[in-house]
Amino acid sequence: MPDENPLPSSWFEPGAPPLEVDFGCHRGTFLLGMAERYPGVNFLGMEKQAARVEKCLKKIRRRGLTNALAVQGEGAGALLAWLPERSASILHVSFPDPWPKRRHASRRLVTKEFLQATARVLAMDGVLRLMTDDSAYFSEMKTLLAEGWEEVPWADGIERPLTAFEKTFLELGQRPNCCAVRPVSPR
Ligand SMILES: C[S@@+](CC[C@H](N)C(=O)[O-])C[C@H]1O[C@@H](n2cnc3c(N)ncnc32)[C@H](O)[C@@H]1O
Repeated sequence: MPDENPLPSSWFEPGAPPLEVDFGCHRGTFLLGMAERYPGVNFLGMEKQAARVEKCLKKIRRRGLTNALAVQGEGAGALLAWLPERSASILHVSFPDPWPKRRHASRRLVTKEFLQATARVLAMDGVLRLMTDDSAYFSEMKTLLAEGWEEVPWADGIERPLTAFEKTFLELGQRPNCCAVRPVSPR
């Protein structure tokens, strides 16, 4: 992770545009698609692999986008390190690595700790949108979300581009598991 917070302070000033986070943004397909489509919203990609962050940053520069940024960071620690409390309107987690082997399950991104960090950085009406192809992981997520979260409709009237993995799974004829949730108030 970078030593200093790389996010522009203007993103967190009163009256700043809403902020959406794409956690595990890969090479930026969804991040850039969203930033191009919605210039009135700021988009932050968080990604653990430095080379992928670089790829995103190159594309952002090449396309002249001023409302998008990608930073290297991993798991709950990245959220807590870079984002102020209640700063994000939506946090997207799309196709987090499923780690299907039992001995690797502790490497999964969506854990109690990650959800606690997410609840902390989501704005009052903020929403976490989760998508996964892995049904076992999805039921684990649902169990973790049973306390402290409430489901909201997945369809929210916003048109979004497909993520890279979503496109691949749809082409294979597989529909992902999706859910949108928000923290139960009061927090
Ligand atoms: C399976 S890919 C999905 C990419 C993209 N979200 C999509 O839907 O096309 C998962 C991405 O999350 C990143 N990732 C995995 N674990 C992570 C973690 N703990 N923190 C941040 N990024 C992570 C991986 O490097 C990879 O780019």
